[in-house]
Amino acid sequence: MTKFAIIGGSGITRLEGLEIVRREVVHTPFGEPSAPLTHGTYNGQSFVFLPRHGAAHTIPPHKVNYRANLWALHHVGVVSVLAIAAVGSMNEAMPPGSVVLPDQIIDYTYGRENTFFENGLSQVTHIDFTEPYCNRLREVLRISAENAAIQAVDGATYGATQGPRLESAMEIRRMTRDGCDLVGMTGMPEAALARELDICYACCAVVANWAAGLSSSPITMDAIEKSLIEGMEKVYKLLSKLDLSN
Ligand code: HPA
Repeated sequence: MTKFAIIGGSGITRLEGLEIVRREVVHTPFGEPSAPLTHGTYNGQSFVFLPRHGAAHTIPPHKVNYRANLWALHHVGVVSVLAIAAVGSMNEAMPPGSVVLPDQIIDYTYGRENTFFENGLSQVTHIDFTEPYCNRLREVLRISAENAAIQAVDGATYGATQGPRLESAMEIRRMTRDGCDLVGMTGMPEAALARELDICYACCAVVANWAAGLSSSPITMDAIEKSLIEGMEKVYKLLSKLDLSN
């Protein structure tokens, strides 16, 4: 059976409704994953769940061991990953509370361990990253949203920033000029590492706030949490209609 995993971001350290079968501690050559892997079933479908920021949400985006997380999932046979991620938005069509399925990435992160392909290689390896997300899984997500009668914006460019601070207004203006619709801190190197392992990886982005400089009110953790709750309700509805059988 196809093994499917969800990497949960801010607002999803547990997958509500997941019937837990077992937890598995995986040690990797790259260090420890963010948490033990939770194996379970959700709506009759078997799932592995991994909270990106740790079980108690204590690991900031720039400290997440992305290599250990992806390697651990691959090690237990996962071939498909849905990443759930909180983001800011600079696109009017994607207000706070929206769910967005990005199809492109621009990477502004630095200093992160961003490849498995660096030591002991028999040959230098470059992955094709023209389409950074798995279009097959994105289509499954789009159909699930449709069947759940929730609006999910299909197609957007995700700009991955280093964090943990939020951006300056001018950084967001530059990212908008670059073509970004969304800004988040965890999209990279996660997507590239998944591709290196041949994992089909797609993202369900939940808009938590207008990006810096785009709204008259300051960006507060309170406001972010409120929008995340609204967005996550939609994500749960989408997941309830997720059909991975084809
Ligand atoms: N910037 C970067 N990451 C984020 C934001 C933001 O405005 N909101 C949620 N994650």
